Amino acid sequence: MNPFVIRGYVSPDYFCDRAEEAELLLENIINNADTTLISPRKFGKTGLVLHVFDRIAREKLPFSTVYVDIFATLNLDNFVSTLSEAVISEFPEKTSMGKKFLRYIRSFRPVISYNALTGNPQFSFEYQSVAEKESTLKGLFEFLNSQEQTVVLAIDEFQQITEYPEKNVEALIRSCLQQMHNLRIVFSGSKHRIMTEMFSTAGRPFFSSTRTLSLSEIKNDVYRAFIKEKFGENGMRVDDGTVQYILDWSLRHTFYTQSVCNAVFATRSKTITTELVKHVCADILKRESVNYLQIRELVTKKQWDLLIALAKESTVKHISSSAFLSRHKLGAATTVSHSLKSLMEKELVLSVFSEGEIGYRVYDVFFMRWLAGQYV
Ligand SMILES: Nc1ncnc2c1ncn2[C@@H]1O[C@H](COP(=O)(O)OP(=O)(O)OP(=O)(O)O)[C@@H](O)[C@H]1O
Ligand SMILES: [Mg+2]
Repeated sequence: MNPFVIRGYVSPDYFCDRAEEAELLLENIINNADTTLISPRKFGKTGLVLHVFDRIAREKLPFSTVYVDIFATLNLDNFVSTLSEAVISEFPEKTSMGKKFLRYIRSFRPVISYNALTGNPQFSFEYQSVAEKESTLKGLFEFLNSQEQTVVLAIDEFQQITEYPEKNVEALIRSCLQQMHNLRIVFSGSKHRIMTEMFSTAGRPFFSSTRTLSLSEIKNDVYRAFIKEKFGENGMRVDDGTVQYILDWSLRHTFYTQSVCNAVFATRSKTITTELVKHVCADILKRESVNYLQIRELVTKKQWDLLIALAKESTVKHISSSAFLSRHKLGAATTVSHSLKSLMEKELVLSVFSEGEIGYRVYDVFFMRWLAGQYV
């Protein structure tokens, strides 16, 4: 098996570090505190949650765990159905907890169908009134809250609830959860601004209700040792300089680092040189280039020019400085700041905090390398 996982979570053997973060998350769970887990996309939030859940299972800690990803939900109805499905997939129909859950959920009169591919039950609820919908939601949380073993519920992509058309969803969910003392929640999300507004603005329902855990890059030396070890275990030799090249080129943004390593591993070369890595990276960019050309259709000329300028400089701290603007012939600072705002909303540009200052870079590291290479 390729030891560089690029989808989901496999086991601790294939998971690099995050020891401190895992410890903090577990401490919160044990000490009755809810957690807000924030990082940019593809840094490893989901991985961390599943890693901690895996540990809870392995060490037989007294918690049941439920993971739900609400990225695809569009409204409160979807939220309720998705949560019900997550619960039943965690506690299958045959188990006593699963039976209990089905009995319980039937009292809310769902239409139950079965997914043709997975065979898992799917629920859709037909509500007579808003009050009924709210009581179904509350009922779900109550079920989780009433288990003998405390349930840890991880709600991934939680910022999605701010997109729901119903009014006061935040207040509704918060007020339900507030009464559940035997239920621990991990809220995770990648939209930093929305997440911090939700949890750190006075007056918002979730204000100050959780402890925040931010994920940044895995430490350089730890990641380097991990990569060397995984290649080494499979009879592939690689020197520190080459591993460092991978880490630098991928900016240690977890998914991109893993992807490069995965592709290098796939060559099965006995000796991995920097030259080989460069070839592999070029192949990745070639494969992805159709997507990048499509992005060009989605942004204005000025935004595209700004993306190229950012890509060439990796990270830019003083985006409206005359030096940056004139170096790349970007025109007026106000235009650039409009473009920047729009690119950030489209998640094409990421703001990063380094050495006490805010900087900006192209969000997708491969896209960034491609832009810099295309427009020299
Ligand atoms: N500590 C780690 N060691 C090795 N691989 C990891 C680690 N953390 C995450 N990964 C891998 O990196 C990729 C991105 O991780 P993950 O999906 O957990 O990120 P995420 O922050 O949840 O992203 P998104 O915001 O897109 O949901 C995955 O392929 C995962 O397998
Ligand atoms: Mg995720």
